[in-house]
Amino acid sequence: MSHELGKLPYSYDALEPYIDAQTMELHYTKHHQGYVNNLNNALSKNPELSKWKIEDLLSHLDRVPESIRSAVRNNGGGHYNHSIFWSTLAPANSSNNAPSGNLCDAIDSQFGSFSNCKDQLCSAALSRFGSGWAWLALNKVNRLEILSTANQDNPISDGMCPIFGIDVWEHAYYLKYQNRRADYVNAIFNVLNWKEISERYSNACVLASALRH
Ligand SMILES: [Fe+2]
Repeated sequence: MSHELGKLPYSYDALEPYIDAQTMELHYTKHHQGYVNNLNNALSKNPELSKWKIEDLLSHLDRVPESIRSAVRNNGGGHYNHSIFWSTLAPANSSNNAPSGNLCDAIDSQFGSFSNCKDQLCSAALSRFGSGWAWLALNKVNRLEILSTANQDNPISDGMCPIFGIDVWEHAYYLKYQNRRADYVNAIFNVLNWKEISERYSNACVLASALRH
C-alpha cells in the first residue's frame, strides 16, 4: 500500500481572495505531492511498514528504522499535516465561520471566548521562527491546547490529537503576502471550515475516551 494525495475538496481558486489560486495549486500539486512521493520512496525499502497508517507511523517514530526515520518524520508529517489542512479549509461562508457544538463549549470554557482562542492561535503562528505550524490540539488529558511545531512535525508524535493547524511555511503565503505572515494568518480565519474542525474535535474526544477504557 502506498500513500496517496487525497482529492482537494474545492477548486484552486475557491479560497480567493484570502488564498490565491496559484499558491493553492503549487502548494497542493508540488509541495504536498512531493511529501507523498518522498514518503513512499522512503518506505519502499521497508515493506513491513507499508501497512501502517500515517497516524501510526507518526505516533511511533521510535519504531521506524533509524535509516528512514527523518524522511518519515518530515515527509510523513508533510503529508499528514497538509491532508488535515485542506480538509479544515473551505470557501468563506457566513454559516460556517465559528466553532459549534462541543468545540464551542470547550473553547469558551478553556479560553474564555473564541476571540481569545484566536489571539493565542495567531500568536503561536507568528512566533514560530522559520517554517512550521500552529495547532489547536486535544492533549493527553483531553484539554484543548494551542502550540506550534517546527518543520513538518505534528502534535500526534507527542501523544496529542491534532484538531487543525495553520501552515506557516513561506510556501503557504509568500506569493500573495510576501513577508506579511500576520496578514496571511488573519486572512485564513475567513476560510476555516469550522463544521469540519468541530467534528474533528468531537471525534477526537470519542477516540480519547475509548482509549481510556
Ligand atoms: Fe505547506
